Parts: sequence; structure tokens; C-alpha cells
Amino acid sequence: MCGIVGAVAQRNVVPILLEGLQRLEYRGYDSAGLVVLHDGLLDRVRSNGRVAELSEKSANTQGLLGIAHTRWATHGVPSERNAHPHMSRNLIGVVHNGIIENYESLRTRLTAEGYEFTSDTDTEVIAHLVHSHYVLGNTLLAATQAALTELVGAYAIGVIASDNADQIICARRGSPLLMGIGIEENFFASDVSALLPVTSRVVYLEEGDVVEVGRLAYQIFAADGNPVDRPVQVSEISNESVSLGNYRHYMQKEIHEQPQAIADTLESVCNSKSIVPGIFGAEAAASFESIDSILILACGTSHHAGLVARYWLEEIAGIQCTVEIASEYRYRTSVPNPKALVIVLSQSGETADTLAALNHAKALGHTHTLAICNVPESALIRLSQLRFLTRAGPEIGVASTKAFTTQLVALFLLTLVLAKQRGRLTPEQEQQHLHALRHLPAATQKVLDLEPQIAKIAEHFADKQHALFLGRGLHYPIALEGALKLKEISYIHAEAYPAGELKHGPLALVDKDMPVISVAPNDVLLEKLKSNLQEVRARGGELYVFADADTHIRETDGVHILQMPEHAGYLSPILHTIPLQLLSYYVALQKGTDVDKPRNLAKSVTVE
Ligand code: F6R
Repeated sequence: MCGIVGAVAQRNVVPILLEGLQRLEYRGYDSAGLVVLHDGLLDRVRSNGRVAELSEKSANTQGLLGIAHTRWATHGVPSERNAHPHMSRNLIGVVHNGIIENYESLRTRLTAEGYEFTSDTDTEVIAHLVHSHYVLGNTLLAATQAALTELVGAYAIGVIASDNADQIICARRGSPLLMGIGIEENFFASDVSALLPVTSRVVYLEEGDVVEVGRLAYQIFAADGNPVDRPVQVSEISNESVSLGNYRHYMQKEIHEQPQAIADTLESVCNSKSIVPGIFGAEAAASFESIDSILILACGTSHHAGLVARYWLEEIAGIQCTVEIASEYRYRTSVPNPKALVIVLSQSGETADTLAALNHAKALGHTHTLAICNVPESALIRLSQLRFLTRAGPEIGVASTKAFTTQLVALFLLTLVLAKQRGRLTPEQEQQHLHALRHLPAATQKVLDLEPQIAKIAEHFADKQHALFLGRGLHYPIALEGALKLKEISYIHAEAYPAGELKHGPLALVDKDMPVISVAPNDVLLEKLKSNLQEVRARGGELYVFADADTHIRETDGVHILQMPEHAGYLSPILHTIPLQLLSYYVALQKGTDVDKPRNLAKSVTVE
């Protein structure tokens, strides 16, 4: 939530800041702003809208040093006065990603000291606090360090002063931040994608780091205040992987990247003849030997991946599995089982509730922890004992797509490892599963080829306000995921039910205006599902059935069928996800919504 970027160079940094903000917009997009130092004055431009508007407004702005911000509102409505940067008496400028929990008491104190607040944000206290230490004669670094000791909460910040033309201070605790190293210019940003146009040499900052960023040099100070060296790494993320290419939206691009993302995630097993625990970390074999159950913690789409895994883990590996929404788990009194493997699932690895749930589990005595995550440098990866990196590549569209299917691949691999370790997988079965996994990228591509048909089906939803999604067994979580995708990007109210539950209430909603979308794989529950669909049809409900080729469900009046190319057995949920992603994408196009940046949402949910 919120993105920050800063630059100190020998050239005008405004284009660098604006390009960086554009690339960080997925993190929040309700307002944007920048401040640069020009002729000894802080020149601030803010816009209560997108970065594009800010670009127009800052056409005549220039400076060799500056900081910028794109916002997802937490404290105070989206408005120009609440947009960052926040300033203190035209001397100090600050951008901030995170939440300052003790801002009310600080605000009261600073107001009593004579500081005037011009916004409703928590961030403004940081600007005044730094100011109060700076005017005592401290350097900008020392003033920022002193201010940080007074803050409770999470932050990644950038700080500039009107009388310091050579340095910016940046710092992080609880929110992501990295530096970009250039030639006689240096940068920082919330995410590497913001800096790729200017450098791929990056330094990932650690919790509590404070950095004095100059043009020719920079110095990092660790949480204890001592200077520290952090390795400079060359980012493997290419500039192309974060640009749109020929696609209309990132979501469409990312849906189409799934065959490659799945193939990349499978790389560790592609050429091997068997599957080994080591793919989850060096200690995995020993850890897996000593566990007796699994607890999966996650939010949103990642939570749905966990729900699919529960079916796999219990059926194939014979291990008891519970799946909980992270924000619920962290606040309820639960009975910990130290022999459980706690799995945290997250695309970003920065989701505040998932991180807190992991810390909560550890505080309860859980020692076996595994993070399945798409971002190698994320906090979740660092905090877990074991780890598996999905290789989806950067996901920029707010609606998660390729991160979900690659999480499923990782969870299926885990299922096979545990099944094998528990003697529930014969060598023949192992080979069959490996064969099916290797075929998955090609099978995924065949489903993507159905795009024109799905676009046609989407036309039926142009005037709909509600939709019901049905699935059974392994595919019930896929129905949940389909409903989430539809509601978040097309704003159609959508709900998902296990099909057998329909007659226990939701059937009352069904009439000719309620489209019912059903995931219909050719599995053991097919005949039961068919009966549920009859119940819908008998009440005049319009059915859209995403059916495997051999299900023999026929297209009739009011029953629209999308034939899936093949039945993928246990891996079927991965294939059945794709038409639902495409459906929501094309319905959103019908509705004319902002597909990649749906209203009120942001990509990394770093606040609880
Ligand atoms: C929905 C979506 C969200 C995320 C959720 C968790 O399309 O993207 O529901 O899945 O915010 O995010 P991560 O996986 O980054 O922890």
C-alpha cells in the first residue's frame, strides 16, 4: 500500500520520480505527489488523482534531488491536502508508506509545541518530528534517526531538507524499501520495478536500516545505529517483464503468462526423476518427518489456494490440514499444535495480516514454518524456517492471477513430497504426477486458447448486478476465486457456494436475472453437480457451465457450455481457474472499469 521513490542525481530527477511512481501505482492510486529541491526551495506538486495527472501538473518542475509518493488512503480521505509529500515549515519534506500507530499522541504534543497540521494523515507527524530535531542543529540523518525512535508502527520513508542539496535520508521498518545504485546518482523505492529504467543494481534494506543517500556515495546504518554494508545485487527482473508489451492490461498479460510462470515454478522438478523435500529448503526433510498436521494461513486469493491444497493434502498425503484467514487467526484464541507445519501463502510476502499471523504462530510455539511466496526478498520469506519461491515473475495487475496458479503448483509439489514421505505414493504414481505436472504448461495454453469464446460469454454479463458461482470438492475454492475475481474488477456482486449447499438458502436468489456459473470437471462429484444444476434451471436461472469435454452436459436453452480441452485429474483446479480469470477480465471490459487498478483496492496490503 502506497509506493515511494526518491532520487539524487546530476540531472533533473522529476522524470525519474514520475516513471517510478507510474510503476508503483499498483500499490495505491488515489493521489500522488512529489517534492524536489530547486534553488534552495522545496517545490511540491500534488494531485488528487493518478500519476498521469501529476505528470501534467509537474511539467515545469525540476530539481536534482527529490522524493515522490503514490497513495492508498488510510488516515484521511483521498484529497490533495492529504496527498504526500508532507512538509514541515518548508524546511522538511517526507514521503511515507506504512502506518504510524501513535500519531495521535505525537500530533497532540507537536501541536502544543506550535506545529501547524495541514492534513489528516499520520505521516505529517514524521515531518514535524524530523523538523523539531533538525532545528536543534542535528544533521538530517541524526534528526531522522531521532524522530524514528519516537515512532510506533510501520514505515518506509524518504526525507529531504531545503538546506541540504546533497542528501536524502531513507529508512524502513515493517514496509519494503530498497536502494538503486547508479553512476553518480542513487535512488530508493518501495519496489525494484520503479528503478529498472535507471539501474538494475540494488541493495535490499533490512528492518531498521536508515540510509544517508548522496550522489557519489551512500551509507547504511543498521537498527543499532552502526554503519553496515549490505550486498549490491543485480536484479534479475527485466524491464520487459514489468512493461505491458502488446497487451491491453497487465491482468490480461499476466493471465497469458501462466504457462511460462507454471513452467518456471516447476523448474526444480522438471528434469529430475523424483521429487525431493529439499525443494522446500535444506531442513525440510527433517522438519516434514516430525509434523503431524498442517495449518495454512493466508488472505484473499492466496487463502483460496490454501483451500484447494487442503483437499490435496488430506486425500493424497493423508495429513490433516486446516486453512485459516490470516486476519482471523491472528486475533483468535487457538489451540496450538507444535507438531503442525504452519504454511503462509502470499504473492507479495508483505501482507500485514499474513506476516502477523506467522509471528503469532511462532509466538504460540510453532517452529515448523514454510513460506510459499513470489517475492524472494520479502519479509515472509525471511521470517520462515522453510521456503518455496513461486516463479510467477512480477505481478502488477491488482487482481492476482499467475501468482495463484503458481501457488497451486507449489502446494501440489508439497503434497507429493509429504505423500511420498508417508509411504502413500508408489514410484509409478510419482511418475504419473510428474508427467501431469510437466504437461501442465501446455494444458494451460490450450485453455487460454478459449479466450475468444469466453469474451463472447462475458457479453451476457454487461447488464448484470449479481452472479452466483458453484463448485464442488476441489473446485469449490475455484468457484470462490472466480467470484472474488469478478467482484473485484467488474464490481458485480458475486458469491460462491459449494453446489450442494444451494438448496439450503441461496437457491432463493435464483431467477432469470441471476447468472449461475458452474465449474464442472469430470470428477466423482459430477453427477451430483448435474442434479444441482437442474435445480437452478428449474427455477429459471441462466447457467454458464465450464465443463470438461467428457461431462456430456448439453447446451440447451438457458444453459451455456464452455468445453474445457481436457480433464487434468488432481490438477484440474489449476486449469479451471483460467476461464474464470478471463471471464472476469472480459466482463470488466464490458463494464468499462479500471481493470488493473480497481476502485478502493491496492496490490500489497501492508496495513491490517
Ligand atoms: C485478489 C488479491 C488479493 C490478495 C490478498 C493477499 O485478486 O490479489 O485477495 O490475494 O490481498 O495478497 P498476498 O498474496 O500478496 O498476501
